[in-house]
Amino acid sequence: MTVIDAAAANVGNDPAAVLAALPAVPCVPGNRLRLRPPRADDADAVFALFADPAVARYWSRPVMTARAEAEAQLARYEEGFATRESLTWAIAMAEDDALVGCCALFRIDSQHRRAEIGYALRADRWGQGLAREAVALMLGWSFDTLGLHRVEADIDPRNAASRGLLQRLGFRSEGLLRERYWVNDEINDTEWFGLLAREWRATAV
Ligand SMILES: CC(C)(COP(=O)(O)OP(=O)(O)OC[C@H]1O[C@@H](n2cnc3c(N)ncnc32)[C@H](O)[C@@H]1OP(=O)(O)O)[C@@H](O)C(=O)NCCC(=O)NCCS
Repeated sequence: MTVIDAAAANVGNDPAAVLAALPAVPCVPGNRLRLRPPRADDADAVFALFADPAVARYWSRPVMTARAEAEAQLARYEEGFATRESLTWAIAMAEDDALVGCCALFRIDSQHRRAEIGYALRADRWGQGLAREAVALMLGWSFDTLGLHRVEADIDPRNAASRGLLQRLGFRSEGLLRERYWVNDEINDTEWFGLLAREWRATAV
């Protein structure tokens, strides 16, 4: 284990205090898109996103089959923010504010200054660098404003796009966890990734 003195590490903001003071999921502006709180009128777009088998292929839940599942998902996003256990953002295009994806910070552990991330983008928007822009905005906010020290991601090892995105953002693969997720009668391994605040700051994304 690496031991870093908290004072020497200049740890910055207190995540629990930042979370408690948030009146809403914060808007984070980017160039082509912005992160904003999900809204009830995003239900159709959330359903379209997670009803797509290509998007759901390596997701930890089965594909959505009814719009009501998207409404329930939006309610869970709201509940996650109310309890400050998770923050979920809509990835919205700058020109029309339409939701084209979602990204989230969850299992937020303020004491240990870490959290996990997840993200999904509409398949017709893949390969344009939009996920990189969205996840970079979320990471910047998480390290610089929330005060996290470490961000983690766990992916299906067959998910080449997700691995490529994480590596592009500076994450390191930290190992394989065997047979960790049952989805659609299939048991899948997980590849664990981690990114430290100092690595993020040292990398120009
Ligand atoms: C993973 C996902 C968000 C990537 O979205 P995207 O917008 O296509 O990704 P970007 O265009 O921003 O690509 C960023 C980097 O990822 C890598 N990448 C993207 N697609 C890739 C692919 N198919 N294979 C390998 N690397 C890939 C590249 O390194 C790219 O960097 P570059 O633009 O400098 O070449 C998208 O594929 C998705 O929504 N998948 C379904 C949901 C999902 O599986 N989420 C992850 C669950 S853990």
